[in-house]
Amino acid sequence: MSTVSVPATSSYSEYVNPRWEELLNLLGMNVRYERCLGVELFTDDGRRILDFLSGFCVHNTGHNHPAIVRAIKEELDRSGPAMLQTDVPELAGELARRLCALAGGGLSKVYFSSSGSEGAETAIKFSRASTGRAGVLYAEGGFHGLTCGALSLMTDPFWRGGFGPMLPGTEAVPFGDLAALEEKLSTRRFAAFITEPIQAEAGMRIPPPDYFAGVELACKRSGTLFVLDEVQTGMFRTGPFLAAHHYGVRPDMVILAKALSGGLIPSGALLMSEAIYDAVYSSVQRAIVHTSTFSENGLAMRAGLATLDVLEAEALGPRAARAGAELRRQLSDALAEFEMVREVRGIGMLSGIEFAAPRGLALRVSFEAFRKIHPAMFGQCLVMRLFRDQGILTQICGNNFLVLKVAPPLVLSDEQAAEFVAAARETVAFVHSSGGFWSEALQLVRRGINI
Ligand SMILES: Cc1ncc(COP(=O)(O)O)c(C=O)c1O
Repeated sequence: MSTVSVPATSSYSEYVNPRWEELLNLLGMNVRYERCLGVELFTDDGRRILDFLSGFCVHNTGHNHPAIVRAIKEELDRSGPAMLQTDVPELAGELARRLCALAGGGLSKVYFSSSGSEGAETAIKFSRASTGRAGVLYAEGGFHGLTCGALSLMTDPFWRGGFGPMLPGTEAVPFGDLAALEEKLSTRRFAAFITEPIQAEAGMRIPPPDYFAGVELACKRSGTLFVLDEVQTGMFRTGPFLAAHHYGVRPDMVILAKALSGGLIPSGALLMSEAIYDAVYSSVQRAIVHTSTFSENGLAMRAGLATLDVLEAEALGPRAARAGAELRRQLSDALAEFEMVREVRGIGMLSGIEFAAPRGLALRVSFEAFRKIHPAMFGQCLVMRLFRDQGILTQICGNNFLVLKVAPPLVLSDEQAAEFVAAARETVAFVHSSGGFWSEALQLVRRGINI
């Protein structure tokens, strides 16, 4: 989408990404955050906003958790080796040991990355190296990152457009369709099948209950590695440490990132079986055949260890399971009467509210007009209203604009959950009862969004 030019107001606009600042201005979301603590964000004009996005599942432990901040400060104060590149970083060993113990299922080695995309890239390389095959299968609608290899595992044309050609040998299958997967796997061309266990950006899509057991078996039979991208779902977001644990499956590799280091230091981890490690790092000469400058850096490792301490000490996994289920129950009740709410679904503290076209003529005309302007227009106006009128930060899913994310930090209190439910109800009621919601969006268009 192209927007009218808003004069640059900051160095950010002048030197980084003015389009982003323009978009936030149009949506009324360009506020300055002074302090972020737990679930609460405080702006310099005195507003308090509840975070129901968590930076897309980065802030499982809440913003600036004091114990994680303290651990990072201590790491800096000890003036230890950071990015020396020629030592054995003990903290990386300790973090890897704990991640493997929590993951279980034969995952016994870790490659540390600096992002989720890098984890996906690494999974592609390692599965090729250990199977000798070039093909990589992935599930339609998923999100795996925006570097070339990771992007090649995504179908959405919005992300791909203009960046082709994609990595050769990558092919998609419908998410949740075991027969389609088995058909592709029977060609024995594929090194790996890479998918999220629950497709977050695709609209909180949860597969049929026995899907992943079938996937694991089909992958084993065809010599294809089964790789789960748990960048959003891992780190206790859905209750257990990994969403894989809901399904009782043993993936060959698991990609973690986002919440791994308390939302403070970029970090990711690719957990893998011993056999995969051995195939890649097969001799001393190949000891650094895949590595990166920032991998295993002391601050990220220390932040990761402190994050695990907090997640375990505060029992945030069980809390996510319990409080997430209660939040969905309350939301379902509060939104039941509204015709545009199709479903509230999710697992643990990863939920979505799915909206649908209204049946009644009056609302339907406005809804369709919105859709013609831009498929994301309805959802974005909902996000804007929640932010401005209710002090709630959230977003629509990146690959499904009719699903509103509900993914707060796992430290959410019952009172904050109740506040969200009331705010969502009021906003959805406004959508259904007033022309104001719809006319405001049309004003936005007049103000210059030329989509
Ligand atoms: C499931 C999933 N995988 C991978 C990524 C890419 O992670 P990053 O943005 O850290 O590169 C994301 C990012 O949102 C994601 O949601």
